[in-house]
Amino acid sequence: MKFMPHPALRCPLDSQPFEQHGACLRCAAGHSFDIARQGYVNLLGAADKRSRDPGDNKTMISARRAFLEAGHYQAIADDLAQLVVPLCKADVRANAPFIVDAGCGEGYYLQQLASALRHERTTPASILGFDISKWAIQAATKRLPATWLVASNRHIPLADHSVDVLLSLFGFPEYAEFLRVLRPGGTLVLVHAGPRHLLELREIIYPDVRLTDSNQAAAAVRAGFRQLSQLAHRHTISLPDQASIDQLLSMTPHLFRASAQGKERVRTLNELALGVDVVFELLQSPIRL
Ligand SMILES: C[S@@+](CC[C@H](N)C(=O)[O-])C[C@H]1O[C@@H](n2cnc3c(N)ncnc32)[C@H](O)[C@@H]1O
Ligand SMILES: [Zn+2]
Repeated sequence: MKFMPHPALRCPLDSQPFEQHGACLRCAAGHSFDIARQGYVNLLGAADKRSRDPGDNKTMISARRAFLEAGHYQAIADDLAQLVVPLCKADVRANAPFIVDAGCGEGYYLQQLASALRHERTTPASILGFDISKWAIQAATKRLPATWLVASNRHIPLADHSVDVLLSLFGFPEYAEFLRVLRPGGTLVLVHAGPRHLLELREIIYPDVRLTDSNQAAAAVRAGFRQLSQLAHRHTISLPDQASIDQLLSMTPHLFRASAQGKERVRTLNELALGVDVVFELLQSPIRL
């Protein structure tokens, strides 16, 4: 896939704009970043690299890709499109919206959204996805043409107030940084697990399961966002074999939290029916700064 430059890209070292010189992006101070042959750029600053292989590893990414590809979370992608497509309609926008997925994983949701936008004939959007995991981004470049970056939510290499719609699905939101990159009045779509998310799986793994609500909207509001709406999304899935159950386990935090016995109990199952409980939060950055 060919790298797609975007004018809002900024140097992670001094926030200056880039110019493309052959297979590198270079800022006026001469900081230079190679464009990988797969068509992405790694703009992860050394300070944001807390391990040698940050974010989801190669195995987790291929498990996530296979699980999502099987359509188990298609209904989440559909609800996401229903929320985002209206924000991109020509009658509400003068120019092409800039949509950014922060912690995009292997690009499933951006691919689904791009196809919904095409179908609805909205103003063509600029689409950018970034993730701290290079494995995620390498997989994402194969899904659709978009601007792909290895980067962290903690320092997003984008100009202030350049983004119209920012997505954060099952991610690690950094609200101050999200407010910096969103334009005034821009939208943050935050998707996180509800209290009953994958409850049947948790009941097998843990002796004692609590139904807690992470209430991420409250944290976003404390940081300065205005809450526009909240939507509860529920559907059930039936995993037909050990492979799909193992894929689900590998893409959740339970892979690290569960005891060896808990994981073993899950891995001996041949099928599992379970409920997906997800919350969509629509938040707005302040209109006046
Ligand atoms: C649970 S996955 C969700 C991925 C994707 N949004 C999805 O729903 O398929 C969390 C993702 O966040 C990434 N991640 C972790 N820390 C991050 C950070 N500081 N900045 C950006 N991405 C990060 C991981 O590499 C992983 O791909
Ligand atoms: Zn620079």
